Amino acid sequence: MANEPLVDQDGSSVSSATAPGTRWPSRDEWAMTLDAARDLALDYVASVPESPVSRHASPGEMAPRFAEPLPVSGYAPEEALRDWYERARPGIVQTSGPRYFGFVNGGGTPAALAADWLASAIDQNAATWLMSPAAAQTEETVMRWILELFGLPASWSGALTSGATMANLSGLAAARQWASLQLGFDAARDGLGGQPVIPVLGSTEVHQSAAKALAILGLGRGALRTIPAREGVIDLDEFDRALSACDGPAIIIANAGEVNTGAFDPIRAMAERCAAHPGGAWLHVDGAFGLYAALSPAHRPLLDGIELADSVASDAHKWLNVPYDCGFVLVRDAASSRGAFGGNAAYLRFAGDALPWSAIDFVPELSRRFRGLSVWCALRSAGREGYEEIVQRSLANAAHFGAWVERQPSLELLAPVHLNVVCFRYRGAGEAGERLDALNDAAIEMIQRSGVAYVSGTRWQGRAAIRAAFDNWATGGADVAALESIVAEVAGRLPAPDGVAEPV
Ligand SMILES: Cc1ncc(COP(=O)(O)O)c(C=O)c1O
Repeated sequence: MANEPLVDQDGSSVSSATAPGTRWPSRDEWAMTLDAARDLALDYVASVPESPVSRHASPGEMAPRFAEPLPVSGYAPEEALRDWYERARPGIVQTSGPRYFGFVNGGGTPAALAADWLASAIDQNAATWLMSPAAAQTEETVMRWILELFGLPASWSGALTSGATMANLSGLAAARQWASLQLGFDAARDGLGGQPVIPVLGSTEVHQSAAKALAILGLGRGALRTIPAREGVIDLDEFDRALSACDGPAIIIANAGEVNTGAFDPIRAMAERCAAHPGGAWLHVDGAFGLYAALSPAHRPLLDGIELADSVASDAHKWLNVPYDCGFVLVRDAASSRGAFGGNAAYLRFAGDALPWSAIDFVPELSRRFRGLSVWCALRSAGREGYEEIVQRSLANAAHFGAWVERQPSLELLAPVHLNVVCFRYRGAGEAGERLDALNDAAIEMIQRSGVAYVSGTRWQGRAAIRAAFDNWATGGADVAALESIVAEVAGRLPAPDGVAEPV
């Protein structure tokens, strides 16, 4: 680990300035620093195809590498970059690579990654038009493109968020605002104290981030009336009954792509019931990755009726493959979002003009990263066709892997492959219940430690399960074959009942 500035043979420093100081660095000094980042980034991205996907650096291994106290004096920025890289290297997981099938993580297309660098260099505050016309115009354009890409009405609007968690929060904040006005108060102004409870309906499979949003919004996780789901899909009869039992306005959360299996709630049927509900109902759709079904003609029907929703949350750092972090919230009617988030301090006004669109009307933050640049370049570079190809290839990969799982006697497919998530498990050799769960948990760890491919685990219908999600822009047939080979290899190494697993 280098702590000293680089020194030439004659003893003069060849690294750029240490403490930032007041002098703006010269072009050469900037180049020295930015080239160091470029070299490390290039090293990294070029090595992705050959490198192990995962590293299992434990906290015990990582902590000593970062154990020193706050440095009193510094050294050149490029030294800091290289120092960090060496220290952190054992803990870098190649989530952005084509053999990472864990959770639902995307990577970054070259255009998106390069644009993300540029966004840092330009360092715009994407809060308001006044702060950056470039960032505001880019984001407004990107939101228009996103609506077009997913076939949603051009009259909708929205803004970029840090991910689907914040998109769920932002959509549900608009829902809460709408519901409060129906009940004769203004949640943003009055708060919820002493007001009637606003019921929220969703299936047992609502994503934890939406439940968390209810907690943050003061509606309370307890406000969520969970409707049973069959194979991940909300039971419509039970939903009908629960909605009929609501006297006043209700907020409904539908899944477009349940996280464990990719199952979809029947959005049109739910929207029709919302429209018929005497007290009114706001339909919020969590389409963190499921919204991308719109890019495959064969899968688009899963989203049937989404144009009837009131708000939609989705991610760009998943299937759009822009670097972390980036998601977006879309709303039918901006008024509820403005009610929830608007409120212009005098010092933020733009020359007294009312702007037709302002990002901060849709999301909680004021100061914001310029995420729009990465999304703009990603979409501009790949175009609609590029993203249709990525999504359809991902779906073909998922279908291929799912069919392969079904053919393996050692494996069991736990749910139909609705979209891009394959949920499966090992059958074991006669184990059941907790012992079979433990065996599958062990198998997940063996696959992860192999470094060949990465899958993650879950519990599905009370049983340990393995998930493989296909949404990386670069995943091809050879990567799917690598996944299949390691899953098959682990099957052969799983512990016999009461035995010990062989390491892979
Ligand atoms: C269905 C669903 N909703 C919400 C989220 C939360 O998204 P984020 O991690 O981008 O906040 C996820 C993440 O996996 C998800 O799959």
